[in-house]
Amino acid sequence: MLERHGSSIGQPLTRRDGPDKVTGAARYAADVHPEGLLHAVMAVSTIARGRVAHLDLAAAQAHPGVVAVMTPENAPRLARSPDEKEGPVSFRLDLLQNDGVRYASQPIAVVIAETLEAATEGALLLNPRYEAETPSVVLGAGERFTPQMVGAGLPAAMGSGDLEAGLAAAEARIEATYDTAAQYHNALEPHASVAEWDGDRLTLHTPTQGLYPAKARLAALFGLPPENIRIHSPYLGGGFGSKGFLSSPQILGVMAAKLVGRPVKLVTRREQMFGPVGHRASTRQTLRLGAKRDGVLTGYGHHTLTLTSTYDDFFEPASVLSRHLYACPAIATNHEASRADIPTPLFMRAPGEAPGSVALESALDELALELGIDPLELRLRNYAEVEPLSGRPFSSKALRECYAQGAERFGWASRPLEPRQMRDADGLLVGWGLGTATYPAGMFQGEARATIRADGTALVETAAQDMGQGPWTVLAQIAADGLGLPLDRLDLRIGDSDMPNGGLAGGSTATATTGTAVHNAAQGAVAALAALATNDPASPLYGAGNAGVTAAEGRLSRRDDPSRSETFSEILARAGRDSVEAKGQGAGEPASRKAYAMHAHGAVYAEVKVDPDLGQIRVTRLVGAFAAGRVVNPRLVRSQYYGGMIWGVSLALHEHATLDARSGRVMNNNLAEYHVPVNADIPSVEAILVEEHDPHVNPLGIKGVGEIGITGTAGAIANAVWHATGVRVREIPITLDRLL
Ligand code: MOS
Repeated sequence: MLERHGSSIGQPLTRRDGPDKVTGAARYAADVHPEGLLHAVMAVSTIARGRVAHLDLAAAQAHPGVVAVMTPENAPRLARSPDEKEGPVSFRLDLLQNDGVRYASQPIAVVIAETLEAATEGALLLNPRYEAETPSVVLGAGERFTPQMVGAGLPAAMGSGDLEAGLAAAEARIEATYDTAAQYHNALEPHASVAEWDGDRLTLHTPTQGLYPAKARLAALFGLPPENIRIHSPYLGGGFGSKGFLSSPQILGVMAAKLVGRPVKLVTRREQMFGPVGHRASTRQTLRLGAKRDGVLTGYGHHTLTLTSTYDDFFEPASVLSRHLYACPAIATNHEASRADIPTPLFMRAPGEAPGSVALESALDELALELGIDPLELRLRNYAEVEPLSGRPFSSKALRECYAQGAERFGWASRPLEPRQMRDADGLLVGWGLGTATYPAGMFQGEARATIRADGTALVETAAQDMGQGPWTVLAQIAADGLGLPLDRLDLRIGDSDMPNGGLAGGSTATATTGTAVHNAAQGAVAALAALATNDPASPLYGAGNAGVTAAEGRLSRRDDPSRSETFSEILARAGRDSVEAKGQGAGEPASRKAYAMHAHGAVYAEVKVDPDLGQIRVTRLVGAFAAGRVVNPRLVRSQYYGGMIWGVSLALHEHATLDARSGRVMNNNLAEYHVPVNADIPSVEAILVEEHDPHVNPLGIKGVGEIGITGTAGAIANAVWHATGVRVREIPITLDRLL
């Protein structure tokens, strides 16, 4: 093995892309303005079911500056129906191939004009008339059915033992139903496309969490070889799952450019984000828990009912975390769904675990109350030493340490068992709650290329995507570490679909997958360089063999005699080479990934204060302790945990997309009425990075950190609200009216 010194891994570096972002030098998709650019604006349906009977095309077309109106009449025909799926995880799209309407805010036309203003006004002139049918959008109103798979291909039902027997053997039982609201992804940057055709070649600037799946979908829709398509996605202003796959608006921009034969920019308007770009469906979860008097679980069931669309399948996998979290001889987890005239739900940060953990963690506290046991003690008595359903050992699991370090920091030990026991100096009720955080440590497939150049610098390329979570920085750290180079001699390039497949920035897999690919590519390039030296009698490294060489600071040195060394440049110059290059893979499912259960864990402690007269709830303290394997950059990892925990506050207390049952429309489709927390809502947030070494998960020991922060937090807050008030609210978000 090559040894590495002075590793850049573990350094709390600030974002390498930070200066470009704050000075405006970083160009997001909508910042790109090719020569001759036209602007496109979508018109979207105001009905949720039926068809478009008439559009006033003449009025729109006559508007000064309008170049074309794209409707099902003239929209480019596609090589493949947008209702045809590409691969096992793929979604149906609305691309103006017919006049049908299957949800409110579905695109029904695109107006293309010389200016954004003209396109916006043109879209308003379309004045659509519909043949409308009565929509159904209420959870449970449609016929219920049991899906086969939920989330990204997980079995809908899994369990072990006999739940009914387990509950019958219990000495204490609770059964409770929790509702969680629909949430819409609202990244700062809306979905945007700047598309430019050159014959049958397409250049597209668009934010995506998956450049290769995006390229494959476009290739299929337009009947092109993938190499004819180049997508640039160097920066995303957030994604949260809604940019995992290309959405209809992004592709409509491409179609509009094809229709008019000029470059076109289409930016989804904020209110149009509440429709064709994905959302987290509402859930109704029923938890049945039984335990002996000492708190040891004898059975638990987690059932989720969720909404999906009438025309496609995505099911929020909210029961899935109950398969991994607590030891119990009898576990049943399952899902049901009902269809509604809504857009198809989609992956949203911690799909399943986010709403699932609110329900499960609330239910555990309800059981703790029944038993008179401290909530932390109850969790420790049911601590899973192996993965409950599979019996597999965990590749690593420092959850016990998370509980302990978080409890210590928070001061949990002095928590009274009974509710309504604590008040602050102003007379506000004070409550403390705990929630367990969990998220799987997955990997997809990724690839990277590393090139060591004659000038002693290196180029590392991979089609990875930075949503803001930090790949520009952490991949550079991993690359510099693998190459034995200082960071300032590293040229990292990402976000271009002509580069090797960087994998998907989803499922908290990006650093594990792409980082492993980058690590392997870097090590491969150093090995190729070392071979040039150790086989060359003129080199001071001659005969050392790869095993006897270390790479650091742009030099290779003999391990047995570090004074014998030479620089990367010297080696390449003598060999008469411009560069050496290697590719590396980020592995999907090697054998060790099957032998072990792989999850990140954490414990979140929350303090809330509730006004006893007004019911107003404030989160006043959050302490999260998380263990997710190797920390590549503690500053950015903490930042991920902060962001996740803040979203947990949002889930617990703020976000709620309200559907009008008559029209099927989201009534609060704007950021004034769709509440997310602002700075004043967020208290002191602390994230403790609990040490965890994982020898199995991948060569660098990395688990993901992108999603786990949102899990646990909302449950902790719900439990703290109960502890403050003695009122158990089972509708999430918890609003003050429920406390009065
Ligand atoms: Mo995430 S919801 O897998 O982008």
